[in-house]
Amino acid sequence: MIIDTHAHYDDEKFDTDRDEILNSLYEGGIEKIVNIGANLNSCEKTLELVEKYPFVYGALGVHPSDIAELNEEAFLWLEESLDHEKIVAVGEIGLDYYWCKDKEEQKKQREWFVRQMNLAREKKLPIVVHSRDAAKDTLDIVKAEKAREIGGIIHCFSYSKEIAKEYLDMDFYLGIGGVITFKNAKKTVEVVEYAPIEKIVLETDCPYLAPVPYRAKRNSSLYLPYVVEKIADIKKMTPQEVIDITRENALKVYGI
Ligand code: NI
Repeated sequence: MIIDTHAHYDDEKFDTDRDEILNSLYEGGIEKIVNIGANLNSCEKTLELVEKYPFVYGALGVHPSDIAELNEEAFLWLEESLDHEKIVAVGEIGLDYYWCKDKEEQKKQREWFVRQMNLAREKKLPIVVHSRDAAKDTLDIVKAEKAREIGGIIHCFSYSKEIAKEYLDMDFYLGIGGVITFKNAKKTVEVVEYAPIEKIVLETDCPYLAPVPYRAKRNSSLYLPYVVEKIADIKKMTPQEVIDITRENALKVYGI
């Protein structure tokens, strides 16, 4: 069965039918999901979801676009909340220069990225990294902080094969989702061709990034078979092989 390593079921787009969708996942071939926190509110909701559903695990962290929320008190709360037994990672954390052009703000993103990364080290948890339009700075920080010792997933991997190599050399996993089915996904297809299947994990980032033929609609883990199909095509494997190997990868990286 499939493991969705990156979902946002706390999102308001699921407010009308969250319970219905989550309870239909198993029948749709989805075994486990990891709900990823992005801001403090979504971290709180993630804690509620992991309590309510046995197949839901969680990651807690503050996304670079939301670091304005972070202060010492919030950081302390994060630190304590990470001790929950179903919280399996720190994330999503990282850099986003696509939505933030201000140099001072970018500097703050780097500072909180490093602090949250070191929180993961302290808690012996992997990191889930969000990086957009910030390839060099993200890689520089990951190297300088020796994040190889922490490990984790580069979520929604969108950079080149060359950058992928750098992360693979540090033993990171690459998160692949709906984008791989898009017509303009040439770069990501190259990355999937290049990366060993043992270093790829499946993710939705739902409600965002639904695969073709549902592109631009609300995404859910139930659409992951379209991503599996595409990866199987690229890797010349059967869909079942892709499901089995990426499942092992997900269990391993999150220590589930
Ligand atoms: Ni996400």
